[in-house]
Amino acid sequence: MTDFSKRVESVSISGIREVFEAAGEDAINLGLGQPDFPTPTRAREAAIDAIESGAVDGYTQNKGTRELREAISEKYDRDYSLTIDPSNIIATSGGSEALHLAIEAHVDSAGHGPADDRTQSDSPGQEVLFPDPGFVSYDALTRIAGGVPKPLELREDLTLDPAVVEEAITDDTAVFVVNSPANPTGAVQSEEDMREFARIADEHDVLCISDEVYEHIVFEGEHRSPLEFTESDNVVVVSACSKTYSMTGWRLGWITGSNERIERMLRVHQYAQACASAPAQYAAEAALSGPQEDVERMVRAFEERRDLVLDGLSEMGLETPTPQGAFYAMPKVPEGWVEEVIERGVIVVPGKAFGERGSGYARISYATGIEELEEALDIMREATRAVR
Ligand SMILES: Cc1ncc(COP(=O)(O)O)c(C=O)c1O
Repeated sequence: MTDFSKRVESVSISGIREVFEAAGEDAINLGLGQPDFPTPTRAREAAIDAIESGAVDGYTQNKGTRELREAISEKYDRDYSLTIDPSNIIATSGGSEALHLAIEAHVDSAGHGPADDRTQSDSPGQEVLFPDPGFVSYDALTRIAGGVPKPLELREDLTLDPAVVEEAITDDTAVFVVNSPANPTGAVQSEEDMREFARIADEHDVLCISDEVYEHIVFEGEHRSPLEFTESDNVVVVSACSKTYSMTGWRLGWITGSNERIERMLRVHQYAQACASAPAQYAAEAALSGPQEDVERMVRAFEERRDLVLDGLSEMGLETPTPQGAFYAMPKVPEGWVEEVIERGVIVVPGKAFGERGSGYARISYATGIEELEEALDIMREATRAVR
């Protein structure tokens, strides 16, 4: 029988799904990684118009429509005063595909030496450094590419210390991933950290993948990107409409990078995907181009819920680093807490689903209405008493 590839055998289906399956049907779901707001009407209407006109019946350019890439380019100018040529953008099937392209195009598998010496045959594969706890895809995509995952410990406040990244870099390091605001922690890296990440990418000549899918969901201060500070082409940025415009089901993200890097990533995209879904491209163009007040409203709602959740957790005596962005909180929880909470009908995700160092934490998503959150907090209070 044809055996399965070792690369695929080394990953398993995300631990988050197991949690959903363990919970009852009318459980309150604080496990979801998607906003509970509708997609903006202008995006829905643009897709409907494009479908009705027949504009989406064929493939678009591999990189995506010129109009969408221009809208993405304008966004970077508007938000960060960055000039990005539309030809240096690939529209992807969500941020997920963008991460896949970046890792696939830059990480060598076992049997290959560092980029300057491909004759070595005993290398176990190039290394990818990423935060632990961190978004589940970084580890899995590294393995699928045949690389070696190197999870990094976080600071007490759950941000990633640039010094820890710098110390972990070896001759075998191909990539380090920065994710701010972060899933699962809600942590936001400071401008100083982002400057450091850019410097490290420049000085060590190592690629920094900056995963910015939560870039607009920040409560204090503002999101900064290492792309603003790099002096080389060693930073690529991944983002998406998924979280900002509540468009997770549309599957539309993108990656930006230097012309050379985009050309390599396009090789993967072209053969695996051809192009992002055309209706989603039209919807995304409209979402990015129109007035952005709906984003601001959503962020204010998340902030109100974050404060409610933090107050509730603090009353229970659970220590929680204050999340400055995204829509997650990550309290330290006693042994057995997650199981107690799930048994009582509230879905939360055990921290260890996001890496070894996530043990002893739980991820709570507050992309749920205030009333449900209040009810869930009451249940967590009971569960906390039960395990203490
Ligand atoms: C940090 C992070 N990056 C990327 C993604 C992928 O997003 P998308 O739904 O656009 O594929 C997610 C989704 O949860 C995420 O949390």
